[in-house]
Amino acid sequence: MWKIDRLSEQPLYQQIANHLEQRISFGEFPPDSRLPSERKLAEKLGVHRSTIILAYAELRALGIIESRSGSGTRVSKHKWGLVPKHTPNWHRYVEGGQFLPNLPFLRRIREALEQDRSLIDFASGELGADISPVSEINQLMSQDYYTEYLGYDNPQGYLPLRQSLVTYLNTYRNISTTESSILITSGSQQSLYLITQCLLAPGDAVAIEDPSYNYSLPMFQSAGIRLFRLPVDRQGINPEDIRTLYRKHRIKMVFINPNHQNPTGVVLSPQRRIELLNVTSELGLPIVEDDPFSLTAYNGSPIPPIKSMDTSGSVLYIGSFSKIAASGLRIGWMVAPHSVIERLADARQQMDYGLSVVPQRVAAQFLNSPLFQPHLERLRMRLQFKRDLLVKGLHDELGDLVSFRIPQGGLHLWCKINPKVNESRLLEECIRRGVIYVPGSVYGSDTEYVRLTFARAKEDEIVPGIAKFAEALRSVVKESH
Ligand SMILES: Cc1ncc(COP(=O)(O)O)c(C=O)c1O
Repeated sequence: MWKIDRLSEQPLYQQIANHLEQRISFGEFPPDSRLPSERKLAEKLGVHRSTIILAYAELRALGIIESRSGSGTRVSKHKWGLVPKHTPNWHRYVEGGQFLPNLPFLRRIREALEQDRSLIDFASGELGADISPVSEINQLMSQDYYTEYLGYDNPQGYLPLRQSLVTYLNTYRNISTTESSILITSGSQQSLYLITQCLLAPGDAVAIEDPSYNYSLPMFQSAGIRLFRLPVDRQGINPEDIRTLYRKHRIKMVFINPNHQNPTGVVLSPQRRIELLNVTSELGLPIVEDDPFSLTAYNGSPIPPIKSMDTSGSVLYIGSFSKIAASGLRIGWMVAPHSVIERLADARQQMDYGLSVVPQRVAAQFLNSPLFQPHLERLRMRLQFKRDLLVKGLHDELGDLVSFRIPQGGLHLWCKINPKVNESRLLEECIRRGVIYVPGSVYGSDTEYVRLTFARAKEDEIVPGIAKFAEALRSVVKESH
């Protein structure tokens, strides 16, 4: 009589494994008895055979069942027989930890991309190999001869990289700083993590943009932080909303991605930047300025960061190599008052003893090399070209069903689907037809949007990818109206 709960957040295989474990423990399947074949059980429960394979694998890992060739899957004699051997119930441990799992849509996307390498990828928020500086990095690495001892390094990060960043930040971002005010992190993600863990406490309230990349991070909820929304319009957030949230919820920090925001592509207007600094300094609130996309501005003149206008030391500035060079190097940085950097470096030492020196050295060499500036120029051109292909594809295929603003920098296009459709249905239909993207609800409250990343797919995949997306969307619209 038992049925799978398809609305549950728990994966199907896990529900099946738990159910079987319970039936076995109640003696319904005695030790050494044979369980139904994968095919039969899949038919009975109306799931794919691969789901049963996963459920059995889970029970096997727990020592509850055994599979022997020729005699099928049986209940373990050891665990349930006369000589009990108790395997820890890993599932309960896994569920019981304080770190929440990633959002179901994001896990589904990862699984689909792993299962089908031919999917046209409008989901992964990173540069494709065709626009990454692969040959530049190879060239630098092949000329490098490492003479230093590879020991534990300074937890604030490799000094030559911090020195290169002082120059980089000054040249490209108009930020004056020193090596001692920089922390090198494993991508900007680690900066966000360290801030939530070290500078905030469970129960604290913070303001984030809506929609925002930060909504995709269960990291905030795992740390017990309450998130409040700052709606993003054409010009970014409205700083007056911060005052309202402060009055109502005593927010302690403002997280913002002001340049070519993920997912909307919006740039916070110069006027609002001034207002933002006025409001936050009046309230004594710190701003976390997450700035991974600014150097992708297609016109080649990125707007200066809020940090460059910060005279009161209220801004924690975060940057990254991920969106301008290579996400796999895992190089990010934070610029903050020295006391904050020291505290976070101490915490990160407890976590991992510091980032590997090797990618830090590669990043420093790339920043210092004459290859960096031409790479940036090429990157902007190629990103803009990919964006144009996407925009053309959307206009040609779906002019009547979608609306969007054309981004002037960054990697993403935030696209509104005009007749609202079921998000899961559309995603599954797209995966079935060979294309993938991120549903809008991952970034907050907008369920009628999709985020299409144009940086990852190859140029010749973009138009065919949108054609597949259009077929899927039209078929889902048809079935739902
Ligand atoms: C706004 C924003 N911040 C931070 C990150 C994390 O990037 P990374 O850790 O690779 O620097 C991303 C990645 O998509 C992002 O879009």
